[in-house]
Amino acid sequence: MSNNMMFYGCDVAELVKEYGSPLYVMSEDDIRERCREVKSVFIDKYPNTRAVYASKAFQTLEICRIVQQEGIGLDVVSGGEIFAAIRAGVNPADIVFHGNTKTYGELKLALEENVGTIVVDNLSELALLDELAAEMGKVPGIVMRITPGVDSHTHEFISTGQEDSKFGFAIQEVIDFATEKAMKSSHLDFRGFHFHVGSQLHDNMSHLMAVDKVLDMLTVIKEKYGYVPRELNTGGGFGVHYAGDPERTHVSYFMDPVMEKIDAYFAKTGDPRPMITIEPGRWIVAEAGITVYEVGSVKTNAAGRTYIGVDGGFPDNPRPALYDAKYEVKAVEKYDEPYDQVVTVAGKCCESGDILIWDAELPKLERGDHIAVLCTGAYNYSMASNYNRVPRPAVVMVSEGKAHLSVRRETYEDLIAREL
Ligand SMILES: Cc1ncc(COP(=O)(O)O)c(C=O)c1O
Repeated sequence: MSNNMMFYGCDVAELVKEYGSPLYVMSEDDIRERCREVKSVFIDKYPNTRAVYASKAFQTLEICRIVQQEGIGLDVVSGGEIFAAIRAGVNPADIVFHGNTKTYGELKLALEENVGTIVVDNLSELALLDELAAEMGKVPGIVMRITPGVDSHTHEFISTGQEDSKFGFAIQEVIDFATEKAMKSSHLDFRGFHFHVGSQLHDNMSHLMAVDKVLDMLTVIKEKYGYVPRELNTGGGFGVHYAGDPERTHVSYFMDPVMEKIDAYFAKTGDPRPMITIEPGRWIVAEAGITVYEVGSVKTNAAGRTYIGVDGGFPDNPRPALYDAKYEVKAVEKYDEPYDQVVTVAGKCCESGDILIWDAELPKLERGDHIAVLCTGAYNYSMASNYNRVPRPAVVMVSEGKAHLSVRRETYEDLIAREL
């Protein structure tokens, strides 16, 4: 019996022997389980609801197919994500297209592909889409993204719902002009509204405050224009377990009280309750992923700090540098040995800020050993770069003890393939 770390029935040391290092390993079983949980505690529990996976968290053709098989739609934020979703075979009707600055080309692509819902972010986009839809003879379904003006108390770079945000319409703008403009357009099917308060939330307060604000806004809009939405999208943001954070939150902890408020409101107005959409991203994939690295150097500096240098870092996971994100780490071959060393896990880039984990507890490691950083399934692969011309790792998918290559490792040839 080896002491190696196991991940969903696979020996991680064997995976790295076969597929190389660094390596993203994703559990298909975990992704499917999360999708099924969303289905049972939200979609099946409440009629006229749906979930779309915020694929910016981790988008590959295979993941698009997995979530589609599980009955979850897809939230996309760019022409590239639309292109990949369509290539993966996602039903365009199940695609929700976001973005604070959608280009003409991206909107055109969305219309050509008959993307089901376009989340309009601002007045100029509303005007452009109206014009483009008329030209192309299309009537896209739209919802308006609202900035609800609530602070979600998460890192400022993943907080989106506060008043001073680059995303969405101000509530007053929706009341004063945007609703009327969208209602009057015969080229837009104006279905309702969207908000997303922020990401990695373990507290439902900002969701509930945002719902209150949006419901108050609906009262004014109904009085002023007689408009009742057919869809309300309450975004994503459900938190997962990173180092130092609570355990993964339950979708029902967020959505049960949200649904209670919305149902009570429409019971009072007597209007039919709109379809409710949610957009979990991180929650579906974060804990399903680990990143495995090989230890290249072990050294203690003059200040007494011991650095474990690994063969990846900032290019495959920019989150520690961007958001001060904290991760847990395990030793792969020395999984069961005492974690009695306090070390700093450093990435390989020429940046002092390329530190994956400060003060990690690990067994005594040496060159050639491997470590696995946990909970890297969201916003790692999708945020990866080639900084320092470091090729992106492969992605291996594991399920029921079996592994297969999902995305091949980048080669040096890939790195220069576009250079003329
Ligand atoms: C509009 C929108 N929906 C959904 C998400 C997904 O958030 P999370 O991954 O925290 O669930 C985001 C994340 O930025 C977003 O901007």
